[in-house]
Amino acid sequence: MRRPNNLTPSAGSPRKATPRGRFGGISLLLTCGVCLAAIAFAQAARAGSARHLDLFDFAWRFHLGDAPGADKGAFDDTTWRSLDLPHDWSIEGTYDEKATSGSSGGYVQTGIGWYRKTFSLPEAERGRRAAVQFDGVYEHSTVWVNGHEAGNRPYGYSSFVCEISQFLNYGSTPNVIAVRVDNSQQPNSRWYSGSGIFRHTWLVTTDPLEIVPWGVFVTTPEISSAAATIQISAHVRNGRAAQQQCVVRESLLDGEGGALTTAESVSGAEPATPASIGAGGDKDIVSTLVVRSPRLWSPDSPALYRVRTEVLVGNEVVDSTETSFGVRHVVFDVDRGLLINDEHVKMKGVCLHHDAGAVGAAVPESVLERRLRLLREMGCNAIRCSHNPEAPEFYDLCDRLGLLVMDEAFDEWTIRKPQLSFGYSDQFGDWYERDLVDFIHRDRNHPCVVLWSAGNEIGEQRAPNGPEILGKLVSVFHRADPTRPVTAAMDNIFNQAGPAPEAFTSQLDIVGYNYADRWGTRRETQYGDDREQFKNRRFLGTEESGVAVTRGEYEFGSLLNDNDSDDHVLLGNGPAGPLYVAATIRSASLWRFAATHDYVIGEFLWTGIDYLGESKWPRKLTAFGALDSCGFKKDSYYFYQSIWTDAPMLHLLPHWNWPEKVGGVVPVVAYSNCAAIELFLNGRSLGVKAREFPSEGVTGSWNNYAEPKTMATTADLQLVWDVPYEPGELKAVGYDKRGAVVAHAEVRTAEKASKLVLDADRASIASGLREVASVTVRAMDANGVFVPLADNQVMFDVSGPARLIGLDNGDPESHASYQGNARALFKGMALALVQSTPETGTIHLTAHSEGLQDAEIDISSRPPP
Ligand code: GAL
Repeated sequence: MRRPNNLTPSAGSPRKATPRGRFGGISLLLTCGVCLAAIAFAQAARAGSARHLDLFDFAWRFHLGDAPGADKGAFDDTTWRSLDLPHDWSIEGTYDEKATSGSSGGYVQTGIGWYRKTFSLPEAERGRRAAVQFDGVYEHSTVWVNGHEAGNRPYGYSSFVCEISQFLNYGSTPNVIAVRVDNSQQPNSRWYSGSGIFRHTWLVTTDPLEIVPWGVFVTTPEISSAAATIQISAHVRNGRAAQQQCVVRESLLDGEGGALTTAESVSGAEPATPASIGAGGDKDIVSTLVVRSPRLWSPDSPALYRVRTEVLVGNEVVDSTETSFGVRHVVFDVDRGLLINDEHVKMKGVCLHHDAGAVGAAVPESVLERRLRLLREMGCNAIRCSHNPEAPEFYDLCDRLGLLVMDEAFDEWTIRKPQLSFGYSDQFGDWYERDLVDFIHRDRNHPCVVLWSAGNEIGEQRAPNGPEILGKLVSVFHRADPTRPVTAAMDNIFNQAGPAPEAFTSQLDIVGYNYADRWGTRRETQYGDDREQFKNRRFLGTEESGVAVTRGEYEFGSLLNDNDSDDHVLLGNGPAGPLYVAATIRSASLWRFAATHDYVIGEFLWTGIDYLGESKWPRKLTAFGALDSCGFKKDSYYFYQSIWTDAPMLHLLPHWNWPEKVGGVVPVVAYSNCAAIELFLNGRSLGVKAREFPSEGVTGSWNNYAEPKTMATTADLQLVWDVPYEPGELKAVGYDKRGAVVAHAEVRTAEKASKLVLDADRASIASGLREVASVTVRAMDANGVFVPLADNQVMFDVSGPARLIGLDNGDPESHASYQGNARALFKGMALALVQSTPETGTIHLTAHSEGLQDAEIDISSRPPP
């Protein structure tokens, strides 16, 4: 885990921390698993260092329900539950068809909750500025310190900083911070929001002469292979009683915060000229550095640098912070689409909500990292934060994994979404500017963020005041960050009832199309009509049809007779002829267009991963994802991998357990990027099939194909065989253009389940850091064949320095709790999340199911780096 941007501790050697820190058990050394961004939080020995930053997550008390008087310091909270943040109380409860969060919110409990924490500050902190940063509290939070109201924030996805200096005690008198969270106005979200302080909290203390929160802005105005100019603007505030003469020193560090590579400028002049800031005043101080032979950031090579910003009075460093950034040149070209460092990059994106299955909205970084890595492996290179700011660590991960981010602010402006009774529209007028500025300042140094979005399917698209409101938002974006374009995800660019006016659309730097193929002939022409009409428009598919299927679920039958077609992979031989994976056909057609038209910047599927909410009872989640809520790959995952990646891959569906189909026909689908596929059933060839994409002439020039050519059997992006069913082994091989075998896939008929098998996504986790291993359990038969329909109940037992924090199986209709130690397999699989405790040692996880052989796995809890 990285510390929040611009809240880094002072320079100096980071020290390993014990779990109990200077502010009552709050300092901790954290990592983000394999991302290796180990951060040390300095301890008491830092006295005298300029900026103190501590994770403020530990040892809180929680009460579900209102608690009059709990804002007062003296309130008795000893009977309240003890817990650590981040915390989401919605995910801990049961599902109820009548819950006020309803179908939008996932039928979970919401309501009001209180958090309190007692902490002390040493005498040495007296006279310094103190603030608590909340990375996200859903929603309507109010903060008190020692009975004084210190701040409030309605929007649950905003990170915000509460100044608390004026209310604090020092030395032996403790302090109490109390936070009331009100998520009782329901429904207020079109998806599962979670409830509570669901993101990290930080305590930061500084000299009153300080860099303001998120006050450093790094840009790279000139980039060549020889050198890059780095411009750093530091916003310094003087809270001291008298005018101050200060110098800002900027130093360039490599990505790990290590060796200083270049430091050429001090406050823009050499020798530095001190800036004068009056008492209570503030100033932007701009410096310029040059990096020779810069390592450029791109999705394929996400090189990072850090800049250390120090404020000096005389020779004394009074404040210091580090900011991670990347050097990259991003152009959105009207004709050529996205260019990064002069190379064409097609956005192969997915939309993501912020929840993560069993952990709800309080997502440990290692859980998030596993999910993002799986998407990366699918070929995804871009994420749209739908439809709100994500947790800060999300952007750090995207920086490191080379994922481009479309960073979105809102789902509502002033017009409420029809499904809701409350929402951001209630506070837009009072808060939009503050929420937007904090959001932009927080995220603007991340190289992953290439595009801002002012909103999703906003009601004002066709409203008379829409252009005016959009104009205000765009100007806030451009003022707070003049380097990035602004889009909005529009579902009314074209509409038979009357499209959004040009006065609205033309204000966007990039026009975001949600479902470009949605209306009439646009199913075929997609962006083509508008490209003809609006010569200077930039086009992005901000939301597109994904393949909504439940993992491992297949149905046979005709689409004509099936009312539930969106929920299943449909295989069949009905009156309309063979119908295979109908949803894939639409998604394929969108990709064919985007892939073969450079001016289309790219696409974002709805969605990368299944998310809670937006579902109809008995479903509690929406199965639009390529990954299910456990992060298990669905067939559609392989479809996107086949169109988005080049390394040879091949996937077959469905599974091969159809006793009722003996003598009948089972349609078999292959997703592959190989030149040709041959299918075999029990060793007999069922023929070779090959697709043609792009169609001849679409790229290069007519008949200018690389030889040898593959003779196509279909223009579709999936290959299909009608296979007379018999049990056994269905196998496919993938050939390259010269006929060499480059990929294999097989599905085999399973016997009854006889054992469980466990796999962890990591062999070790860092102790005390609350890192999480994601462990998959699968049912196998006696021959080691996966049993795709197994639904056995599994008991999990953890021994050693860890605890189980969640169990999931991806079943959209399951109402079982994510907590506890038992979970049924769904379609043969389940997931256990194992989190480290402060001790090191061997963690032993056992999975047990009646009648099956147990499975065991060891994960080591290693000392923090
Ligand atoms: C879109 C909307 C998403 C989600 C999706 C479901 O129109 O932007 O938030 O609701 O529909 O299909």
